[in-house]
Amino acid sequence: MQKIVILTGAGISAESGLGTFRAEDGLWAEHRVEDVATPEGFARDPHLVVNFYNARREQAAAAVPNDGHKALVKLEAAFPGEVVLITQNVDDLHERAGMGRVIHMHGALKSALCAACDHRWEAPLVMAPGDACPKCAAPAARPDIVWFGEMPYDMEEIFDHLAEAELFASVGTSGNVYPAAGFVAEARRNGAQAVEFNLEPSAVGSQFEDIRLGPATKTLPVWVDEILAR
Ligand code: APR
Repeated sequence: MQKIVILTGAGISAESGLGTFRAEDGLWAEHRVEDVATPEGFARDPHLVVNFYNARREQAAAAVPNDGHKALVKLEAAFPGEVVLITQNVDDLHERAGMGRVIHMHGALKSALCAACDHRWEAPLVMAPGDACPKCAAPAARPDIVWFGEMPYDMEEIFDHLAEAELFASVGTSGNVYPAAGFVAEARRNGAQAVEFNLEPSAVGSQFEDIRLGPATKTLPVWVDEILAR
């Protein structure tokens, strides 16, 4: 039983046409994080925030999964029950590629959250501030996104998986945002091997024994075939 834990970031969706955050032309070059990715920003200007996520929801709906997403599906199919996918991404490209359980630690564009009663439901393509919660009817709908200063989802389950991981792979993340950037140290502390897939070493690249440089659509399929050939 070899437990493979995979963490993905915006880089795995880049070749599907979705923007990353910290590239020169990234999302954080166009928008101030404090305006569109904090509870304070949402309280200050809910229209700006809701429309930021409406635009990203539309872009994600128009994107298609790429060979990087598909390689992970092939890996999961080869090792049923032994592959755990944790993503920082809020798009649904992993699911649309055919992945089983996807742990969205930063939330999901396809989900809406009631700020009054914590009810979750499938978000409409276009949300509006003050949309009513289908459960409690409060005008308190918000994007189900984990903003800076909020607790990422499923952290207990994630650390349980990292404790059992024998192989940890990080794909397309710059290693700038914790707690995700600390997952490699946690996995290695528990004896896992660690491999990173990126265009360049991430901020935590030195913690990986193996770094595969290049686009994930090229590097991931090669890696998965290596594992399947073992
Ligand atoms: N293949 C592999 N890696 C790629 C590719 C590609 N085709 N294109 C870009 N990358 C890499 C970049 O080199 C970079 O290291 O993807 C990484 C993207 O980094 P970020 O833009 O910082 O995105 P991410 O690491 O996912 O951000 C983490 O920060 O703002 C928050 O909540 C947001 O989930 C996000 C978190």
